[in-house]
Amino acid sequence: MPSVLPDGEPVPEDGALPASALVGAGERPLGFYLHVPYCATRCGYCDFNTYTATELRSSGGVLASRDNYAATLADEVRLARKVLGDDPRPVRTVFVGGGTPTLLAAADLVRMLDAVREEFGLAEDAEVTTEANPESVDPAYLAELRAGGFNRISFGMQSARRHVLKVLDRTHTPGRPEACVAEARAAGFDHVNLDLIYGTPGESDEDWRASLEAAVGAGPDHVSAYALIVEEGTGLARRIRRGEVPMTDDDVHADRYLIAEEMLSAAGFDWYEVSNWATSEAGRCLHNELYWRGADWWGTGPGAHSHVGGVRWWNVKHPGAYAAALAAGRSPGAGRELLPAEDRRVERILLELRLREGCPLELLKPAGRAAAGRAVADGLLAPEAYGRGRAVLTLRGRLLADAVVRDLVD
Ligand SMILES: C[S@@+](CC[C@H](N)C(=O)[O-])C[C@H]1O[C@@H](n2cnc3c(N)ncnc32)[C@H](O)[C@@H]1O
Ligand code: SF4
Repeated sequence: MPSVLPDGEPVPEDGALPASALVGAGERPLGFYLHVPYCATRCGYCDFNTYTATELRSSGGVLASRDNYAATLADEVRLARKVLGDDPRPVRTVFVGGGTPTLLAAADLVRMLDAVREEFGLAEDAEVTTEANPESVDPAYLAELRAGGFNRISFGMQSARRHVLKVLDRTHTPGRPEACVAEARAAGFDHVNLDLIYGTPGESDEDWRASLEAAVGAGPDHVSAYALIVEEGTGLARRIRRGEVPMTDDDVHADRYLIAEEMLSAAGFDWYEVSNWATSEAGRCLHNELYWRGADWWGTGPGAHSHVGGVRWWNVKHPGAYAAALAAGRSPGAGRELLPAEDRRVERILLELRLREGCPLELLKPAGRAAAGRAVADGLLAPEAYGRGRAVLTLRGRLLADAVVRDLVD
């Protein structure tokens, strides 16, 4: 089941933010995340806030029908406009994620984007992305999205090998994601991403190389490669516990990461975040960069998180409860917190250290600085960047990023 939401203080019924959150807002970029909480089937490894038709029926989510979803989400965009008041910022990025956004009609995704455009306006060079499952799009669908203003698309490829896709419960056939890239390019998308997962039980180094080769051969300008996380409570975790499939160990993950770096860089991709590679600056995902750099974003949809000026809040998780709140004219916010300065410092280190540009050493306290010095000596942080006052991971450091961060936040 999807993971649990954090605790926090209640969000006021009208969703109003403390005045402090809007101080200096004009200088920060603003992005929108639009969550679509539906999937045709649930992949055994996934604990995102998404529901199949059967799960929705069994949890009484009648109000949460897919047919009304675009209109419901547009209500939250209008609420955002009221809460942000006369904030003049045009929206810099819009990212439709899921779930499976492409289970909705293309016209629905365009309607959701139009709500943002009508209420806020889009920056001239706005990045507008949707995630898409390879089996759920065709050239006509992609053309409709492109005509409606989407200029970036992210396909969940995961693997090129049939037996790996099977362990992951993916329903597309090998070769379909690569065909999707060609269809997206033909439809005029400027930027195309493929998501890959490594370390699936039963995957060999050779399988992983084949997946990378197929991905780069398809011609995307962005690749995300994630180590498979076995989330508690998922079908995959249960299968591993029962001994039906083996667990992958950390050494295998490290080897696969090195293979990814080797093959992606040979194909002209540069890493810009530990799990993300792009063929150019323009190919980077600006929306994710807004998250990583602590900008403002409003996340609409059930369970979505938002952050404006140091206030973080999250919506009720169930699509039925979400729709009911908006239908009653209430904010769907379930809780919020005002991030104390120390939490913001730690979060900046956590996120910025994973970026190619690293994080400024001035964010570190004396214990963290001492740890950074040791990390340079251990070959985990780049000496030259350290000399310029920045903590930047080396390739070895990227393999151990979580451990390096733990030491630096002290
Ligand atoms: C939540 S999915 C949504 C996109 C779309 N539904 C799909 O599956 O292609 C976004 C991406 O997160 C990654 N992901 C999801 N669960 C994961 C897990 N447990 N471990 C590693 N990556 C995961 C997958 O690569 C996936 O493409
Ligand atoms: S299709 Fe994507 S969001 Fe849906 S269950 Fe699978 S990984 Fe999760």
